[in-house]
Amino acid sequence: MYRAGQEEIDEIAKVIHSKMWFRSGDPAAGHLQEVVRFEQEWAETIGTKYALLMSGGGTAALVCGLAGLGIGPGDEVIVPAYTWMATATAVLAVGAIPVLAEVDETMALDPADFERKIGPAVKAVIPVHMLGRPANLKAILRIARKHGVKVLEDSCQMVGGAYKGRRTGSWGDAGAFSFNYFKIISSGGEGGVLVTNDRSIFETAFVFHDSGSAFRPQAGSLSIPIFVAQQYRADEVMGAIARVQRTRLDGILADLRRIRKTVETEMTGFRKVRIAPNNDPEGDCGVCVAFRFRNEADARAFKNSPGVEGYVGIDHGKHVYTQWTPLREKRIMHRKDMNPFYFRKNRGLRADYSEDVCPRTLDFLRRTVFVMLHPDWTEDQVGKKIHALRSAAAAI
Ligand SMILES: Cc1ncc(COP(=O)(O)O)c(C=O)c1O
Repeated sequence: MYRAGQEEIDEIAKVIHSKMWFRSGDPAAGHLQEVVRFEQEWAETIGTKYALLMSGGGTAALVCGLAGLGIGPGDEVIVPAYTWMATATAVLAVGAIPVLAEVDETMALDPADFERKIGPAVKAVIPVHMLGRPANLKAILRIARKHGVKVLEDSCQMVGGAYKGRRTGSWGDAGAFSFNYFKIISSGGEGGVLVTNDRSIFETAFVFHDSGSAFRPQAGSLSIPIFVAQQYRADEVMGAIARVQRTRLDGILADLRRIRKTVETEMTGFRKVRIAPNNDPEGDCGVCVAFRFRNEADARAFKNSPGVEGYVGIDHGKHVYTQWTPLREKRIMHRKDMNPFYFRKNRGLRADYSEDVCPRTLDFLRRTVFVMLHPDWTEDQVGKKIHALRSAAAAI
């Protein structure tokens, strides 16, 4: 979350004073409809028919999206080896098995490896737009359609960014956003949104996210029977914050992109430092600049130079599959008989998370330095950053 202020406070205050904090309520009685209005506004922003705000974060949005796609035991879902662990654990949350695929030089899912990994049990793929950098959606969608594989975009780190002129989240069968504190905008520290154009995905996700929906007004329009699943309902305070934050989004993106462009323009012409390829530099959110090196030693020397303040990709903690310890050790749920790795229907599925399963991903991560940007940097701060980066590059 980059920006927040009096506007959020004013809108929260209205909700507090209304004393109607639950997402459903009667507008005639003064209910502010913050969640419902946010959902309409977000669907319009992203360019989808439906949006569902929820309290369980991007993780819940992914879980609900997978449920909406009908994913469950007996299914494999392809996820990139470089992503926050939740992309893979969401698959396990619906009883299916995540299968790892490589990222390519853009640091997003490698379409060629995705296709290579498609087997008879693969029902879905989750391309992840890591660090506001879009995945190669055209190639991924072409392959997915050819093989009858559903696409759930993990746009948790790419909130509002675009690929080829259309916002991410709207390309796949469904898309998930995170509104947690560390993301581009937030709904109050935690939160997530699922978007889709597909009525049946929306309905299943809606019921899944609120097992008590039987008595909500929206339930009247559902064509499926209510089933019991989880409780990820958003509340009106979240809705109010999310509505204000949405109005800040395009301004934040414009500033991030401007700064990124300035930095990248100034970083050309170095023999040993390159800007990492990007599937759509125009649509990229601009939260970081990714630098590519010939080897890890050069990457570390650059990263350690004064004022660079970046990190080498391989050090990105639980974003690197080798660090997904509970998953790699197959410690899922609180009882063995609830652990998808031991489900009868999952016998024989690929569950290989060994250290060397995605070596190209590890190689790219060792040779990439990410430098994070901030939309509120002054010209002076941008200039100082560029000076530090150029000095670091010249010293290699
Ligand atoms: C790529 C990615 N996917 C999923 C998530 C999960 O989002 P949340 O923390 O809001 O549940 C995150 C959050 O960090 C993420 O970065």
